[in-house]
Amino acid sequence: MLNLRETQKELLKPHIGLGCIAADFTMGNGNDTLWLSKQVGIGGKVYAFDVQDDALANTKALLEKEGCENNYVLIKASHHLLKNHIKEPLDLGIFNLGFLPGGDKGLTTLRETTLPAIEEAISILKPGGCLMIAVYPGHEEGRLEGELICKTLAEYDQKQLSAYRFNVLNAPTSPYFIFIEINKKYRGGDKI
Ligand SMILES: C[S@@+](CC[C@H](N)C(=O)[O-])C[C@H]1O[C@@H](n2cnc3c(N)ncnc32)[C@H](O)[C@@H]1O
Repeated sequence: MLNLRETQKELLKPHIGLGCIAADFTMGNGNDTLWLSKQVGIGGKVYAFDVQDDALANTKALLEKEGCENNYVLIKASHHLLKNHIKEPLDLGIFNLGFLPGGDKGLTTLRETTLPAIEEAISILKPGGCLMIAVYPGHEEGRLEGELICKTLAEYDQKQLSAYRFNVLNAPTSPYFIFIEINKKYRGGDKI
């Protein structure tokens, strides 16, 4: 059986390396921020967002324990406000939607802010840049959030980006992920 998390990383690896600019748009307990920090190294930078103090505290503790380079900035703000904090083009971004593992399940990502955040992130990705979005349709908000994201992405011009969905056909409520790649020749996103 495929390990979806490992599959996500395999898709991301060709898009990330030393010196890259990356973002973790849902910091949570910091596992993705940690991975990004290690990939981009001392010459790169990772912007990480969350709305909960616990997420920032857990992530800070994890990054310090792992001896990460000083290449990250932990931001307490909703991801749809990303342009207040990121003033440079991005190579790669990760959204791992849902609620903080071990935290309050009521404090989940919401489609009203998730969708604008994804659209803002797309608008600052470099040509050839990518976004990975993990969706959890096993809870109602996650199901609706995923439906809205898929419907919206299906309307983007392929000259701008390609969007792929990876899901388990015989486990319809299991998590799935969406991978977005900006066309290498697309120049319309140079808004920063
Ligand atoms: C599934 S967790 C992320 C897991 C994390 N990437 C990790 O590696 O541990 C989802 C996180 O999204 C956060 N979140 C919810 N709404 C948000 C928003 N509007 N902006 C940024 N983060 C948000 C939650 O607080 C929660 O910590």
